[in-house]
Amino acid sequence: MKGALSRANNIADLRVLARRKLPRPVFDYIDGGSDDEVTLRRNASAFEHYELVPDVLTDVSRIETGTTLFGQRVRWPLMLSPTGLTRMFHGHAELAVARASAKHGLLYSLSTMGTTRLEELAEAYGGPKVFQIYIFKDRGLTAEFVARCREAGFHGLTLTVDTPVAGNRERDRVNGLSLPPRLTMKSMLSFALHPAWSLPAVTGSKFDLANVSHRVDALAAGPISLFDYIGGQFDRTVTWRDVEWLAAEWNGPLAIKGIITPEDAKRAVDSGATGIVISNHGGRQLDGAPAPVDQIGLVRDAIGTGPDVICDGGIRRGSDVVKAVALGATACSIGRPYLYGLAAGGESGVDRALSLLFEEFERTMILAGVNDVAKLDCRHVRRPQELW
Ligand SMILES: Cc1cc2nc3c(=O)[nH]c(=O)nc-3n(C[C@H](O)[C@H](O)[C@H](O)COP(=O)(O)O)c2cc1C
Repeated sequence: MKGALSRANNIADLRVLARRKLPRPVFDYIDGGSDDEVTLRRNASAFEHYELVPDVLTDVSRIETGTTLFGQRVRWPLMLSPTGLTRMFHGHAELAVARASAKHGLLYSLSTMGTTRLEELAEAYGGPKVFQIYIFKDRGLTAEFVARCREAGFHGLTLTVDTPVAGNRERDRVNGLSLPPRLTMKSMLSFALHPAWSLPAVTGSKFDLANVSHRVDALAAGPISLFDYIGGQFDRTVTWRDVEWLAAEWNGPLAIKGIITPEDAKRAVDSGATGIVISNHGGRQLDGAPAPVDQIGLVRDAIGTGPDVICDGGIRRGSDVVKAVALGATACSIGRPYLYGLAAGGESGVDRALSLLFEEFERTMILAGVNDVAKLDCRHVRRPQELW
């Protein structure tokens, strides 16, 4: 492992390395949130308000960390969230992330907005994988994804429901980068000509929303950019009925990502979901939304022990995962922590991020005196009144 990566002691150090490597607009695209970034900050700081309450003098010579997610066995309760435009952060893109994820025995989510074709990822990657899907205006495109994922052997789907419109990411506006991106390929290229970073050097191949680009060629009668096509696909009419439709169409493990309330969690399960991803899109959509960690207990109480509950957003330490699982989550999910690693050093950087988090997780389990994740429960975590 290269010097700088091996000297990174935590996710915050990897973030500093990523900031050095990337042009500011690209770093800000990863790092930023919507409006005043209140939710972005709160997602992480909310974990500080929980104390870990240890047992002592238990045998912690061996720690059982494994669990099951989307019906797949994983090494510890963590998964990698879907992130779009990954090739912009490192030329090896999703394949680098997926390889590191497989090395760590974790579950990887490929985004619809990814820059690697789902078939290519499935071929190159033997580990457990889910595909993050949207219900687009063009339901045919969504149905096509379902069929392609089944064919390619994806183990589950995650339906993202917190993006009826793009969040107001002001850093991106200031930098001239919007989401969904409004950049044409030409402007994307010109944007990329940053002195410390060049798009062709970083990508080594065509930069593309690889899973949807064929659709534009087929459907666009006039001159429409790929990003305009996708931007126009976000559908504000989507309701629970559409979730029922998707659940029937897929007929396999399906998580709904972007749930905040126990009522919606219950509706999701009633509509056919097998899992809930408590998420506010990493503070990139509705600013002011509660931190996922604060919703775990409510959601778990509402849906019982059966469905997966994944706490997504704000995880920066392995101890955060211990807290979330003690509160009732099946697992946690991370976006920026692995992207900082990717930007800092490609596959080795993702590997470093996952190693650091795992070491922290395991050490926290030992110090908390809990030798099996299945034994973590609410008595190991407490939220003192004065910190509310
Ligand atoms: C650069 C970036 C791109 C993202 N792209 C997507 C996406 O395409 N689909 C999606 O459902 N969520 C997307 N997300 C949200 C993540 O899946 C996840 O919810 C979020 O990153 C979790 O918060 P964290 O970064 O604090 O771990 C993205 C997040 C980032 C940082």
